[in-house]
Amino acid sequence: MRNSTDHTAAAQGTSASASVKTVVVPAAGMGTRFLPATKTVPKELLPVVDTPGIELIAEEAAACGAQRLAVVVAPNKEEIMRHFGEFEELQKIMNRRGKKEQADKVARAGELIEAVAVTQDEPLGLGHAVGCAEQALGSDEDAVAVMLPDDLVLPAGVMDKMVQVRERLGGSVLCAFNVSRDEVSNYGVFDVVDADASFDGFDVLQVRGMVEKPAVEDAPSTLVATGRYLLDRGIFDALRRIEPGKGGELQLTDAIELMISEGHPVHVVVHEGKRHDLGNPGGYIPANVDFGLHDEKYGPALYPALKKIIADFEAEHPELINEN
Ligand code: G1P
Repeated sequence: MRNSTDHTAAAQGTSASASVKTVVVPAAGMGTRFLPATKTVPKELLPVVDTPGIELIAEEAAACGAQRLAVVVAPNKEEIMRHFGEFEELQKIMNRRGKKEQADKVARAGELIEAVAVTQDEPLGLGHAVGCAEQALGSDEDAVAVMLPDDLVLPAGVMDKMVQVRERLGGSVLCAFNVSRDEVSNYGVFDVVDADASFDGFDVLQVRGMVEKPAVEDAPSTLVATGRYLLDRGIFDALRRIEPGKGGELQLTDAIELMISEGHPVHVVVHEGKRHDLGNPGGYIPANVDFGLHDEKYGPALYPALKKIIADFEAEHPELINEN
């Protein structure tokens, strides 16, 4: 096990659930905020400590009982899927050198879950990307999970709570996170009321409406969507009926809002833990620090190293010390 704490889904021991079979992972973005790295390396393959974000998502999906990862890729980003392929030669070399742990790491992604590629030919938005994955679902699946690989939601296991909510209240269930008011314009924002039911150990609210990246003054609350969605299969029909929205893109938020306006029940699980945004260096670096500190192998040396970096930085910038 890589981490000694609760930083991975597997470490959570989350229970299997029959309710989610396919997890859609939109991974077709260009990763422009990570240039120049993303000239040749897809953003989803950048590592958190040593494990690519896409494998962390595969681990979370497998831990909630899913069988299939439908990875939505752009035509030039299909190398992401190679991460789930077989690397027999590399495994053999690692084993020959007595590096069993490394050999296991090589095999792991492919063993976690069946990953299938879905191609999104044009970058028409998150809603369009999710819509492309309809073909990957089995005919018996009445719901689909969506996990955005930019979002690390910790501790893992929030999808299990969302499944519980759908089992009791039906409809679709999303994950909400409270942010400060000046951050709301980066997210889909919820308009919520109390739910008719209560759940043990976590808060659930009913969603009356949802708006994509509103101006601060128009935001209905400070509860925003993080990248975990459990959506009724009706989402695909709604996605076919929406028009381009914010940024001229087909927005998943707008399809959910359309379903709500037609009477579809939508609830949120209010997440009380941590969240890291792997979508830009400003969030990716703290994620690596956090996972690194909790890592059995690297944490013990990283902790004093970080303290020294911070002490040196504060010596260079004494004016910052009283500010924080
Ligand atoms: C997407 C969604 C947004 C959501 C966010 C969570 O936005 O459109 O509603 O709040 O993910 O990370 P993006 O970050 O892709 O612009």
